[in-house]
Amino acid sequence: MRILLCIAALLIIKLSSAQGPYHIVPQPVSLSLKAGTFELTSEVEIVAVEDCRHEARMFAEWLSEATNSVFTVVPGETWRYSKPFIFFNSQNKGDKASPGSLDYVNPRYTKLLESQPDGSYNLQIDARGITVTAADNDGIFYATQTLRQMFPLAAEKKQLRLPYQLVCVSINDQPHFRHRGLLLDACRHFMDVDYVKHIIDLLALYKMNVLHWHLTEDQGWRIQIEKYPLLTEVGAWRTEADGSKYGGFYTQDQIKEIVQYAAKRHITVIPEIELPGHSVAAIASYPFLSCTGEKLEVENEWGVFKDIYCAGNDSVFTFLENVLSEVCALFPGPYIHIGGDEAPKTRWEECPKCQKRMAKEQLKNEAELQTYFIERIAAFLKTKNKTIIGWDEILEGGIPADAIIQSWRGEEGGITAAKQKHDVVMSPTSHCYFDYGLSSIDVEKVYAFDPVPTVLSQDERLYIRGAECNMWTEHAPQSLVDEKLLPRMPALAEVLWAYEKDRQYKEFILRLRKHYDKWEAMGYHFGYETVPVTFTPSAASGKYEVGLSPAPSDLKLMWATDSLSSGTPYQSPIRIDKPTTLYVRGTTPQGKKFPGFYVKKMHPHAAVAKKIHLGFLPSAYYTGGSDTALIDGVLGPINFRDRAWQAVSGSDMIATIDLGKAQPVNKVTTHFYHYYNAWIHRPNRIEFAFSSDGVTWENQSIIEANVPLNTPGEHIVPFTISLGKETKARYVRMTAISSGPCPAWHPAPGEPSWLFCDEVIVEEG
Ligand code: ACM
Ligand code: ZN
Repeated sequence: MRILLCIAALLIIKLSSAQGPYHIVPQPVSLSLKAGTFELTSEVEIVAVEDCRHEARMFAEWLSEATNSVFTVVPGETWRYSKPFIFFNSQNKGDKASPGSLDYVNPRYTKLLESQPDGSYNLQIDARGITVTAADNDGIFYATQTLRQMFPLAAEKKQLRLPYQLVCVSINDQPHFRHRGLLLDACRHFMDVDYVKHIIDLLALYKMNVLHWHLTEDQGWRIQIEKYPLLTEVGAWRTEADGSKYGGFYTQDQIKEIVQYAAKRHITVIPEIELPGHSVAAIASYPFLSCTGEKLEVENEWGVFKDIYCAGNDSVFTFLENVLSEVCALFPGPYIHIGGDEAPKTRWEECPKCQKRMAKEQLKNEAELQTYFIERIAAFLKTKNKTIIGWDEILEGGIPADAIIQSWRGEEGGITAAKQKHDVVMSPTSHCYFDYGLSSIDVEKVYAFDPVPTVLSQDERLYIRGAECNMWTEHAPQSLVDEKLLPRMPALAEVLWAYEKDRQYKEFILRLRKHYDKWEAMGYHFGYETVPVTFTPSAASGKYEVGLSPAPSDLKLMWATDSLSSGTPYQSPIRIDKPTTLYVRGTTPQGKKFPGFYVKKMHPHAAVAKKIHLGFLPSAYYTGGSDTALIDGVLGPINFRDRAWQAVSGSDMIATIDLGKAQPVNKVTTHFYHYYNAWIHRPNRIEFAFSSDGVTWENQSIIEANVPLNTPGEHIVPFTISLGKETKARYVRMTAISSGPCPAWHPAPGEPSWLFCDEVIVEEG
């Protein structure tokens, strides 16, 4: 019993957070509350030794705005303690500080500095003042962000009344991983300069230190290069399917402004200049860059494209070296990301120049040609003192010398690289792809992420530098990026900073929720923590109803059948008797509305909640949510990752529905997704068959696809048959015949294609 009580007490301590009145994210390594308070008044002096004056000034500016007071920074070297203070001191200039005052403030000062690792800081609040000592300027900056988070909402609203009492505390803190990043794709959708700064501010608040800026893509080239003006005159603009122009780019002055803005917030900007693939915008600007030399348009579709930089043409390398020279001059950090992912080798296989290069360099295959390509670029960048980072595909032809690997296709690339003593940044699609919906990656999943693969030995683990969350923007214009990052990004920030093995999600999320009002005050839109509602269809006695379950369970749900009305509070299952779109919105118990609706299209029909037998194994990634996904009355949206879609790769899809008893069946409709760039193809044809006993099948109806396989874009393709009124059946069988492996014209010839189906709608009338 005593043991049980002890365990319970421990759990309570853990869940209630040891931070007392504070809610700091990421969790500091150690935080001890002390008796008493420090009173912040407008008399308080902000003191800083020379080396950390810049960070102290930024903090003073923030505090001045937060309190409508004026705080200036007093030099620490000549400072004599007389008033309450906020004192910043870094190791670099510790010897210049006046020993008398330092000893007075913190007798342990010198000792602390000797043992502090990079980015670490010690923050003491006692009745006389706040003392920050840090190993370096990173540590000073991180301490200012911790301090900022220790103030209440009123400070973020710029309405904090002085005096204000801060509870005394002692914090020792340091980052666990040295690479804590966000990838921002400014290519699929362009983000203006102010928005990029707004994201940098958010990264800074959570002590993230890398902005990986994806600047070149098939769909747009976003960085001005003086030597090649067409890259932005042509390559920065695409013509959308509706004929409109979309685009934008950053001038070199804007790039410098952003790099400097980030540097002041202790964030390194790593530009990504994609090669040899994802380069259609560059090729559209300068056709000599490709194997064929054909004139291309800047892409207006998402996917992977065959036309990539030619590896056999020296003028391509001259071009890339010239581009990278300008890039290196703009980004003072030590790393350049060169992409390397998703580069189909089709053109290289067919290109005489590429084949000649392979023969001359004695390369066995196109994968080795890719390694040759990357190594040649890496060698050039080394002359500029830059190290390359590349996606895990660059391992395929042999790991390029000195490369850092960013592992996205799971952990495998990271494991291979670490075993070969290469540094690694982890961003597996399983936990780090913030373009994915919450049904794949919610806050809890991000928080459970372990960047260190368990198979690595103690020595190999040291090669894991950290991780990034990847904000790809195919489906996220600037207006949606905030709510995809929040609240997921701070969860990753805590994983990377604190790396507490014994993480308690419940404690974390309660602490993080204290930030929501602050985000709002700072102008950030934030999204849900997880899929806010589960739809549970039922069809008792032929009546179709949908139950709604909120997540988390205390979320209040409002529902409506159009997007304009404010909705009705959800109480009990909703009766639906015709095709209906449900708009559901969540409100926290405190009354805070989350942005956006969760939208579900419902289509009640005769097979809902009946039995279904699947003659295929649904993909573990696209299960449809359950084995009965095809008869749950829930339709899929134009997002194939939505849980409503059930999928299979490389086979036909056969499903047999048992209606329980013979009944009139007059119409059957099914929908298949079509998006060949994601290898998702509508079936070549659908066969429906009907039976009263499950043995003898009749009324076989074949419907051929009327959408050509090479139709670009994302589509939901319906297949419908209408039968005579007299048709009765107990069993309905659908066979969807796959279009087979991807054909020769496809970006991935020979690869298996997918079938994606949301529903088999069986109707009487
Ligand atoms: C990637 O998501 N293609 C790196
Ligand atoms: Zn070529």
